[in-house]
Amino acid sequence: MSVTVRVPAKVNVQLAVGGARPDGYHDLANVFLAVGLYDEITVTPAGELRVTCSGPDAAQVPLDRTNLAARAALTLAGRRGLDAAVHIHIAKDIPVAGGMAGGSADGAGALVACDRLWGTRASREELLDICAELGSDVPFSLVGGAALGTGRGERLETLEVGGSFHWVFAMAGRGLSTPAVFREFDRLAEGLPVPGPVASQDLLDALAKGDAAALAAAVSNDLQPAALSLFPELAGTLAAGRSAGALAALVSGSGPTTAFLASDAAAAERIAGSLAASGTCRTARVAPSPAPGATVL
Ligand code: C5P
Repeated sequence: MSVTVRVPAKVNVQLAVGGARPDGYHDLANVFLAVGLYDEITVTPAGELRVTCSGPDAAQVPLDRTNLAARAALTLAGRRGLDAAVHIHIAKDIPVAGGMAGGSADGAGALVACDRLWGTRASREELLDICAELGSDVPFSLVGGAALGTGRGERLETLEVGGSFHWVFAMAGRGLSTPAVFREFDRLAEGLPVPGPVASQDLLDALAKGDAAALAAAVSNDLQPAALSLFPELAGTLAAGRSAGALAALVSGSGPTTAFLASDAAAAERIAGSLAASGTCRTARVAPSPAPGATVL
């Protein structure tokens, strides 16, 4: 017997970052939108905990106990006094170290899958609590859709989305470490006042109306200068997407994946084709949004 759970990637349509906190984290106003690129996590009873991964980026995924999927299984098992004796297989389609919450998706997916496999019947509240323990973006991977994340991003308020938005994602040739991007943010902000992070009302209204042009005018990412500082070639990818007709071009989360908002599905296909041919990225993929959160298949 095995259980498979499908979990979406995310793009941050707003990522407002405050100053560094005493615990090293940053307070955020983080508007998450789940997009239709998915990892599938399958758990099967086994003699001991084991993680495997397939997909084009599989070689970059750690298979030890630092993998968020393994940590999710160990955390749930620990809370119930169980042995986390499962084989976790990750069929990976979300870019690794890409700023699209791929690792977080695997954590949320493994948690939901183990809960079903073991019949532990954790409440939604307990699942969200374990997700927040695993990482700042993991609760959103569980819920999907669209949400405003505050605190370090883990405190979620669901947002209404009045239509679908069509995205193109350009995958880079290498990853970026999220802690390194936050450190670069702190370095660039040194000596400057960092205002408290606040969600943009224009952006929330654009999401609620399903208005792509208004959303394009309101998107922002405070981590973008830091990601560009560590990965200057991304400026060329952003420019290529803009000249291909994207309504908006931005770095996804801590990068280095770049995100392009298109006016409709056909425009997204055209922009993806132009980006793929531009030589400024490894691949380009289209994805609709919003997408549902972790779902047992
Ligand atoms: O919570 P998570 O483990 O996913 O965060 C990874 C790293 O990203 C943290 O160690 C920290 O360096 C940075 N981070 C941050 N502020 C946040 C979220 C993450 O500085 N709100």
